[in-house]
Amino acid sequence: MNHTGFELAADLLRARPSRPVHLETAVPIEELPTPALLLDADALERNLQRMQEFLVGRGKGFRPHAKTHKCPLIAARQLDLGAAGVCAAKVSEAVVLVNAGVGKVLLTSAVMTPAKAEILASLSLEAERLDVVVDSDEGLALLARAVSPDSDLGILVDVDVAMGRTGTRDVEQMKALADAATVTPGLRFRGVQHYAGHLMHTAPYEKRRDRSLTLWQTVAGIVETLAASGFHSEVVTGGGTGTYDIDSEVACITDLQVGSYIFMDQEYRLIGGREGDHFDDFEIALQVAATAISQPVPGVITVDGGYKAFASDSVSPVPLDLADTEYRFAGDEHGVLLLGSGSQEPLLGTVQRFITPHCDPTVNLYDYYWLCSNGFATDMWPITARGCSW
Ligand SMILES: Cc1ncc(COP(=O)(O)O)c(C=O)c1O
Repeated sequence: MNHTGFELAADLLRARPSRPVHLETAVPIEELPTPALLLDADALERNLQRMQEFLVGRGKGFRPHAKTHKCPLIAARQLDLGAAGVCAAKVSEAVVLVNAGVGKVLLTSAVMTPAKAEILASLSLEAERLDVVVDSDEGLALLARAVSPDSDLGILVDVDVAMGRTGTRDVEQMKALADAATVTPGLRFRGVQHYAGHLMHTAPYEKRRDRSLTLWQTVAGIVETLAASGFHSEVVTGGGTGTYDIDSEVACITDLQVGSYIFMDQEYRLIGGREGDHFDDFEIALQVAATAISQPVPGVITVDGGYKAFASDSVSPVPLDLADTEYRFAGDEHGVLLLGSGSQEPLLGTVQRFITPHCDPTVNLYDYYWLCSNGFATDMWPITARGCSW
C-alpha cells in the first residue's frame, strides 16, 4: 500500500503552529474580526479546576478528551492539573498533540488502516505514553504488524454494552484481544474503555443516572471476568461531562474522559442537572461573537455568523447580550435574530455574543481562540488540530 498521502498529511500537521500569540495591546471584544471564537480565560480555568477537584475528591483520575478543544495548550494545562493523559478521537489529532509535546495520549477510536497503524507505531516511540483502543482481531493484527518489538503501545479493549457504535460485546473476543496484546512484543494490555455517548444528553438526571450505572455494572463484570482470566485492567476509562458525577461513583473506573466541561454549550445546558432544569455545574466559557450587519425588517437583525460560524445538530445559538431574542440560522454566513419586545434599539454594527449550540464541532470551524478576560482579548491560542478528522 502506498502511504505517501498519509505521510504528507501528517507532515503538514506537524508544521502547524501550536504556541500562543500574546497581544501587545489587549483588544476589546467589539473590535475583533467576526465571527470570532471567544474563550473566557477565567471561566475556562474555573471549569478545569472544578472538574479536577471533584474527581480527585472522589478518588478518580481524569483523562480529558482533546477532541473538544483540539488545542495542545489546553491539553498541557489539563496535564498540569494532574490528568492521567488526554484522549484523541483520531490519529491526526494524536499526531498534533504528540508533536506539540503532549506526552500522554489515548486514541479512543479503533484503527483499521495500515498507514494509520504505522503512524501510531511511530508516535508510540515519541510519546511518553500512547494507548489505543481495539475492538476486533483484525485491528489488533494491524497494530501488531506495525509496532517494533521495542515499542510499548498500550492496548485498551473497547467494550460496547448498549450504544452499538464501536466496541465489542463478545467477552471471549475481549479475552482474545487482551491475550494477543499481552503476548505481542511491542504491545501491552492496559485495560478497557467504555463510552456510552448516547446517554450523555439523556434527561432528566435520574434517568441518566440509572441508565449509566446499569451499563457500568455490566462493564464491572467484564473487568472481573478479564481479571479472572489473568488480564488485569490498570485502566478502566470512559464517561463524559453528562455523567461525570454519576460514573465517578463506579468503583472499577480509574478515570473519566470528560470533554465538553471546559467550554459547555447549549445542548449540555439543556440536559438538566442534579438540582434543576439547567445543567450548570460548569460555566459557559466558549462563545462566538458576530456583528449585526443588516436589519431587513423591524424586529429582525441579521448577524454575520451562520452554519460556518456555529455547528449544531439540534439547538440554535443563544444570544447572550439580548434578552428575549431568538437566533435562527439563515444560511452559511448569516443568522437572523428575532428581537424580543424589549430590544428594538438600533443594533447595526454592534457585536453580539452567543452560547454555542455544540462546542466540539463549532471549535472545529475556527483557526484560533481569542482568549478573553473582562471584555478584552489578550491572546490567540491556535486550534492546532482543527479539521483533523482522519
Ligand atoms: C470516546 C469519548 N470519550 C469522551 C467523550 C467526551 O464527552 P463529553 O464532551 O460529553 O464530555 C467523547 C465525546 O464524544 C467520546 O467520544
